[in-house]
Amino acid sequence: MANRGRLFWKILLGFWLIFLLTTQLLWAVFTLYNPRHEAPEDNIARRIGNVQIGTAGAVLARGGLQALEELKASWPPDERKFFSDSPVVDAPPQGEGALPSMQQTRGAVSRLVMAPDGQRYLLRYDLDGLRNEYHQGRRSSILHMPPPLFWLGLTGGLLFSLLLAWNLTRPMLQLRRAFERVSRGDLSVRLFPVMRRRHDEITDVAKDFDSMAERLQVLVSDREALLHDVSHELRSPLARLQLAIGLAHQNPKNVYASLDRIEHEAGRLDRMIGELLALSRAEHQGALGEDYFDLLGLVEAVVNDARYEAQVPGVDIQLTAHQPEDYTVKGNAEMMRRGVENIVRNALRFSAHGQSVFVSLSRVDSLLEITVADQGPGVEESKLSSIFDPFVRVNGPLNGKGYGLGLAITRKVVLAHGGQVEAFNGPGGGLAIRLRLPHWE
Ligand SMILES: Nc1ncnc2c1ncn2[C@@H]1O[C@H](COP(=O)(O)OP(=O)(O)OP(=O)(O)O)[C@@H](O)[C@H]1O
Ligand SMILES: [Mg+2]
Repeated sequence: MANRGRLFWKILLGFWLIFLLTTQLLWAVFTLYNPRHEAPEDNIARRIGNVQIGTAGAVLARGGLQALEELKASWPPDERKFFSDSPVVDAPPQGEGALPSMQQTRGAVSRLVMAPDGQRYLLRYDLDGLRNEYHQGRRSSILHMPPPLFWLGLTGGLLFSLLLAWNLTRPMLQLRRAFERVSRGDLSVRLFPVMRRRHDEITDVAKDFDSMAERLQVLVSDREALLHDVSHELRSPLARLQLAIGLAHQNPKNVYASLDRIEHEAGRLDRMIGELLALSRAEHQGALGEDYFDLLGLVEAVVNDARYEAQVPGVDIQLTAHQPEDYTVKGNAEMMRRGVENIVRNALRFSAHGQSVFVSLSRVDSLLEITVADQGPGVEESKLSSIFDPFVRVNGPLNGKGYGLGLAITRKVVLAHGGQVEAFNGPGGGLAIRLRLPHWE
């Protein structure tokens, strides 16, 4: 309890105070609006007192002390004890036989009466005594409030606020512990299982927290895998570089051949690092920018470039698009060009002489769809989903120049633009890749 946070005490004390104040104020308002400010037993006691004093006074004035004693003897002993009469010596004489009006205080009714012999008596009826007989301890009430009400406010309020404070701060504590664990690098922490039974907003927070932790876990493990792959991939050209240098040292005749090899490997390293940079850039959605570009123009430019290259292997590239449509996309045109180019160049690379590559652009509802299909070897069904992972080369490094990064970059770019990408084998063989991008309206 001692190490509970400030929020716990704030809620506990705040609600307790409010609860107390509410019950007490409610009582105050209740008594204020009560038409009679007097409790019923007070009223009854006063009326009894008036009747007793009235009767006793009349009897005393008419028949003297003797008659009063007889009257008193006829009362039940319980009633007698509240009544008292005492002769008055120095009171100023009043009018002959006059009966002065009754004197009433909260505690007693009293009256000055003259007996036929001229002696004055003070008659007094003790209202407090009568009241107290009914209500022991009524005097001790706090703020004229029935004690149960006060205690109810005190303990009920405390209990209620304790429950509320505990109920609200416990998940905070759990959340804090979870965040602490995440900040220490433990991403396996999950909150939903512990908070499932609440069924409130805090459960939603727990769900969001879990999906955040999950996403972080995936990102971190992706990162680790990529780092591992990158170092692995960089190793082989570096090993060949070292080998070439070693050969040049051994025999001066090898220098020119080695220099060629060194140049080749250095260029390879440079290209790979360029691709890696592009991959990491595509990951940062924030760096997407606010460009608006025409997807059709972009695809046409990519296809024209590819057609130029395609002359050598003798591959035909066909582009079909519904012209009157609007193909505006929001994002980064340069990255998107790179993404589309990677697919078209793959198709070109895996196509043989005389084959065709079909590129089509169309609009389906609010999505723009680019499909690139070739007539090449295609990819084994079971490996279709893995070709988008970095450094994955399924068909062996054809033409010897792939790093397996092209499709990974494409996927990153497309995802950053809020789109999707998928690969499938066409009905007549060959691989088809389909991109779907949100149309900007
Ligand atoms: N059109 C295609 N036909 C058959 N296989 C393909 C096709 N496109 C991609 N692949 C397979 O998918 C793998 C991954 O493609 P990706 O573009 O990521 O890498 P890459 O082309 O080998 O290298 P990089 O693009 O980095 O130069 C390729 O190595 C290839 O095995
Ligand atoms: Mg490629």
